[in-house]
Amino acid sequence: QTTSLTTGQIGKDGYRHFMEKELHEHPVAIGQTLQRIIDPVTRRVALPDMPFDVATLSRATITACGSAFYAGMVGRYWLEELARLPVDIDVASELRYRNPPQPDKGLALLISQSGETADTLGVLRELKGAGQSIVSILNVEHSTMGRESDLVLGMVAGPEISVASTKAFTAQLSVLAALTIDFSRQRGLLSEQKERELTDNLLDLPSHAMEVLGLFDQIRTMARVIAQARDVLYLGRGICMPVAQEGALKLKEISYIHAEAYAAGELKHGPISLIDPSVPVVAIAPSTILFDKTLSNLQEARARGGCILVFTDAKGAERLKDIAEHIVILPDVSAFAAPILYTIPVQILAYEVALLKGTDVDQPRNLAKSVTVE
Ligand code: G6P
Repeated sequence: QTTSLTTGQIGKDGYRHFMEKELHEHPVAIGQTLQRIIDPVTRRVALPDMPFDVATLSRATITACGSAFYAGMVGRYWLEELARLPVDIDVASELRYRNPPQPDKGLALLISQSGETADTLGVLRELKGAGQSIVSILNVEHSTMGRESDLVLGMVAGPEISVASTKAFTAQLSVLAALTIDFSRQRGLLSEQKERELTDNLLDLPSHAMEVLGLFDQIRTMARVIAQARDVLYLGRGICMPVAQEGALKLKEISYIHAEAYAAGELKHGPISLIDPSVPVVAIAPSTILFDKTLSNLQEARARGGCILVFTDAKGAERLKDIAEHIVILPDVSAFAAPILYTIPVQILAYEVALLKGTDVDQPRNLAKSVTVE
């Protein structure tokens, strides 16, 4: 089931919650966002000219709040690895008062669904005053941040009503992936052939995302374990670490279960002491990203009685079948595209747990869709 994004009057279209509807809109949000920035004939990224020289850019600062911050973390991995661009990243409420030294004519990359979040807007004004070029990735382009930016890169996620962000996150990642391709090319690091390979990886995502939407029942089995727990650990490595963080945030926000995300390699430096059969461990573990290392971390957790729940692909599942309680197998995707696809089941898991807990999914207590005060 897909939903049109051009809603005049926004309804739930037969879904129980806006969040459920918006989860089902991942494929179309990713697809429409990419359609705007990838030329379908040449399969090359076509972004507007940047207000600075990309080839000689020495550093970028990324900032955001909440889920948008974790999207920025994924962006940092991409920009550093592929475009060889050093990135400083921090949540807006910290960056705002940290006063880090800024390079001459550096790039400040801001990410926000609403374009109205007070802390992110505060950083925009600070960094603009410090002579940085402001590029914002926004869903609401005609917002305060939209008006005050030097350049807006719009996502095409459509209205997001549920307080907890879903489709805006994968749309943000789609823009960041395209920006990485564009920067890598402009910095002389990407052949035409490699660019087509990466854009093809992205253009395959809407159909893979549709496949993931067929996994609700399997994810519900995992949700039954989590709904019994008081604390949950999420683990990921490399570019999947921010996906684990997004998963833990989503679970906290809408099910009120305490969840923490750790870099899997940090497990032995503390959180392993928390593990017992009552603390489920959710791993984001595609076989393409530091898989052997994650596997050995999960074996350590299993040896301490941990209940291991994993999102992986068919190859990863084969290696994990003896230690995991539940495995959800996702379509094979490249390491480049994996953080976008793996976000979807992790958000569905939080949704399913919230249903089991009977919480107010669309309006979780104490939270607001857009935080316009500091
Ligand atoms: C609130 C919402 C989150 C969102 C964050 C940032 O905390 O509950 O879902 O990620 O604000 O919002 P923004 O509009 O700047 O992306």
